[in-house]
Amino acid sequence: MRFFFGFLAVLASVSVGSAQSGTPVRIMALGDSITGSPGCWRALLWRKLQTAGITNTKFVGTLPAQGCGFTYDGANEGHGGFLATGIVSSKQLPGWLSQTHPDIVMMHLGTNDVWNSKSPTEILAAFDTLLEQMRASKRTIKILVAQIIPMNPPNCSQCGQRVVALNKAIPDWAAGKNSTDSPVVVVDCWTGFDTAKDTQDGVHPISSGNEKLANCWYGPLVKAIQS
Ligand SMILES: *[C@@H]1O[C@H](CO)[C@@H](O)[C@H](O)[C@H]1NC(C)=O
Ligand SMILES: *[C@@H]1O[C@H](CO)[C@@H](O)[C@H](O)[C@H]1NC(C)=O
Repeated sequence: MRFFFGFLAVLASVSVGSAQSGTPVRIMALGDSITGSPGCWRALLWRKLQTAGITNTKFVGTLPAQGCGFTYDGANEGHGGFLATGIVSSKQLPGWLSQTHPDIVMMHLGTNDVWNSKSPTEILAAFDTLLEQMRASKRTIKILVAQIIPMNPPNCSQCGQRVVALNKAIPDWAAGKNSTDSPVVVVDCWTGFDTAKDTQDGVHPISSGNEKLANCWYGPLVKAIQS
């Protein structure tokens, strides 16, 4: 019996020890197929964090990891084909948040909105609602919002320019929503991404594109994890 309680005490001290080194920071990647299907930039991003010794993280989402060649922490909220405006009109985010409780949201959304001719004004109005829902889930949530990767799909000659227009409007939107308690940080995933070289269909990243996405998120994510 004494041995048993001694053993429990050791277990308790071990768990206190790991709590001191940090309760995992819960990170939700929110987006469409670029984020979730399979979204292997998340696998590369996770590996970069591990390599840097940043292991106090837990990626959260209602969708499981998909195969990216190695095992990684890959729960996510990257729903193929979804629009920001559609997630809002279908009221989907609150349910995802209440199941997963993120501390940080990395949002790469707007591609399908642009594809379906939604204006930057409509998309940013959807972002307003998504942000309110995130803050209702956690008052001090941190939001990393992407200036999304370029697109040039065969069925949309206007899409490239529409992405430019959306991305141009994002910094002012983010600055207007920023707060000390719940910072909104803009992450530039557009610059340096080449649809001809980094996608196979004008939209979805191949491995070079996944590297670029992992790289654009990495610095801002580390800062958010460590602040
Ligand atoms: C182009 O194809 C995408 C993906 O199938 C679809 O979401 C979009 O509505 C299409 N756009 C046009 C203008 O046909
Ligand atoms: C919001 O404030 C944080 C500091 O709290 C800053 O790092 C970030 O760049 C600001 N975001 C915008 C869009 O200005």
